[in-house]
Amino acid sequence: MKNESESAIIESWGKNVEPWIRAIRNNEIESRILVTNKAVVDVVLDLAPRKVLDIGCGEGWLVRVLSGNGFDVLGIDAVPELIAAATGYGAGRYRTLAYSDLSVSAIGEQFDVLVCNFSLFGHESVVSLFQSAAPLLNSGGAFVVQTLHPANAGNEDETGDGWRKGSWEGFSSDFRDAVPWYFRTIDSWKSLFAASGFALTEMVEPVNPETGLPVSIVFVGRVV
Ligand SMILES: C[S@@+](CC[C@H](N)C(=O)[O-])C[C@H]1O[C@@H](n2cnc3c(N)ncnc32)[C@H](O)[C@@H]1O
Repeated sequence: MKNESESAIIESWGKNVEPWIRAIRNNEIESRILVTNKAVVDVVLDLAPRKVLDIGCGEGWLVRVLSGNGFDVLGIDAVPELIAAATGYGAGRYRTLAYSDLSVSAIGEQFDVLVCNFSLFGHESVVSLFQSAAPLLNSGGAFVVQTLHPANAGNEDETGDGWRKGSWEGFSSDFRDAVPWYFRTIDSWKSLFAASGFALTEMVEPVNPETGLPVSIVFVGRVV
């Protein structure tokens, strides 16, 4: 698989722009409010960057928060309607760009931190993004990825990397056309960082205080 799975991911976000903006701006996703927003912001603040690239920025909440902390933040996303909704809604710079088109020459600048917050769902698109990542960083820069915790995502019957059926379970009924996404084990994420020229320097597993279960995992890689 499957280039059509990769384009289906972007198309699905394009179909769900309005419910996504409502979900974020009305604080409808409990795990984000309870746990994961703070987790990713804390990790980036600790890195004390001057310039940040938010990759798959959606409607731009993280760009706004990090800009509010005095950083120069560029958000990119493949869905023009999300970039339009983000632009001018608060501080930050934005561009419509797919991961497959991401490069220093396309962007024309480098960053101290690259951050992906729940924005990596594909296979080839994610591998290509990782391959483009190191050249986008200034010396000493870091690549931060927060994603669903592999122990609590996907289907218990299926182990190992692979495409999984998508679902909007837990989201409002306005969401439609869930599409397959590519599951990776923790070891596979680690290998992807290593194969892309990064040493993993930190791995945080934020826990939902109500369930005691890890909600997500945050990886921090440094260019070797
Ligand atoms: C779950 S949303 C997360 C948005 C934002 N990072 C946040 O935390 O709210 C995933 C985002 O990744 C973007 N995305 C997924 N695949 C992409 C690709 N191949 N190129 C660019 N953007 C992509 C989608 O358009 C969507 O806005």
